[in-house]
Amino acid sequence: MQTVLVTGGTGFIGSHTVISLHESGYEVVIVDNLINSKKEVLNRLERITGKRFKFYNIDCCDRDSLKTVFEQNKIDSVIHFAGLKAVGESVQMPLEYYSNNINSMITVLSLMREYNVNNLVFSSSATVYGQSEDVPFTEESPLGVCTNPYGWTKWMLEQIIKDCANAIPSLKVVLLRYFNPVGAHESGLIGEDPKGIPNNLFPYISKVAAGTLEKLTIHGDDYDTPDGTCLRDYIHVCDLAQGHVKALQYIDNNYAGVNIFNLGTGKGTSVKEAVAAFEKACGHEIPHVIGPRRAGDLPVCYASTAKAEQLLGFKASRDINDMCSSCWNWQVNNPDGLQD
Ligand code: NAD
Ligand code: UD1
Repeated sequence: MQTVLVTGGTGFIGSHTVISLHESGYEVVIVDNLINSKKEVLNRLERITGKRFKFYNIDCCDRDSLKTVFEQNKIDSVIHFAGLKAVGESVQMPLEYYSNNINSMITVLSLMREYNVNNLVFSSSATVYGQSEDVPFTEESPLGVCTNPYGWTKWMLEQIIKDCANAIPSLKVVLLRYFNPVGAHESGLIGEDPKGIPNNLFPYISKVAAGTLEKLTIHGDDYDTPDGTCLRDYIHVCDLAQGHVKALQYIDNNYAGVNIFNLGTGKGTSVKEAVAAFEKACGHEIPHVIGPRRAGDLPVCYASTAKAEQLLGFKASRDINDMCSSCWNWQVNNPDGLQD
């Protein structure tokens, strides 16, 4: 049985991926410093899977502590989710973002080299394509100019990983560029649990639907799109989780080097369509107003999924209604998120 070290494994995407890995027969070791997640996630994972996962409360930038994880476990592969991800916060706190996101990956890579661990899956983002309007984005689309430090950390880390793979011929890497992960596990026991007032659409709609926030502001309805609002490629987090299992399988069956895959559905959904789907899921209207455009927003962003379909055998199976209903189920069951 292969053992996968999942850094950031109590976070939103990490926790859902832990379930998929477990269901696919992998042994999982979780490292997270809980800077943006709760220890309660481990109890929830146990309720869902019947398994208590091995957990280390460690900062991935702390080399000495992280070394104990490699010392105590025979790690075969690493999925590196650990990182800070709030775009606005990254503009306010660039040093913290560069320091955490870059150093954690460098520390993990250096321990992988020391312990001869050769398989890596890295959480990248469609944000590396920058402001290009040439959609759909394929893995060959040129990398763009990012609009914020968070985006640049992904851009830089992709380069750092490619440089390491050049220097370490045995390294096998899959870079996964996520589009817009949303939704929650069908159990309603885990889901996205952002701190404070959410910036992203789904957590925001969810709080409005629950009555915690008064109304949604749609950021602009004068774009050159069918209903004037921006189109995004929302992907259910459980499909995304499955994409990580496919990535590990791909690594097992292929030569060393770096391979890049988009994880999306290939379909653009407008803000208005997302609101309508959420209204259907929660059974009542979502109060909303139209506001001005949000700086830095692309009118249209969606993935070409051809490469992931052909080479990974990955195709998302859940639609926008599944995303909304699972998100709502999580919200209803955990109105205040998780508490420790
Ligand atoms: P998340 O914040 O829910 O999960 C990240 C986890 O990493 C958290 O549990 C946090 O406590 C942990 N963490 C952060 N820094 C750490 C450190 N130095 N050491 C140990 N643990 C640390 O975020 P998520 O949505 O699950 O995202 C996971 C990854 O996917 C991130 O790298 C993120 O940038 C990337 N990503 C997310 C999205 C998205 O929309 N959610 C889109 C593209 C890429
Ligand atoms: C954002 C990040 C991106 C990150 C992605 C991860 C920005 C500028 N970009 O992308 O780097 O990779 O999340 O999921 O933050 N919207 C509203 N009202 C709201 C919130 C959002 O109308 O209150 C609209 C936005 O204008 C956008 C769409 O909903 O058109 C989706 O927004 P969001 O969920 O923030 O995702 P992205 O902007 O695609």
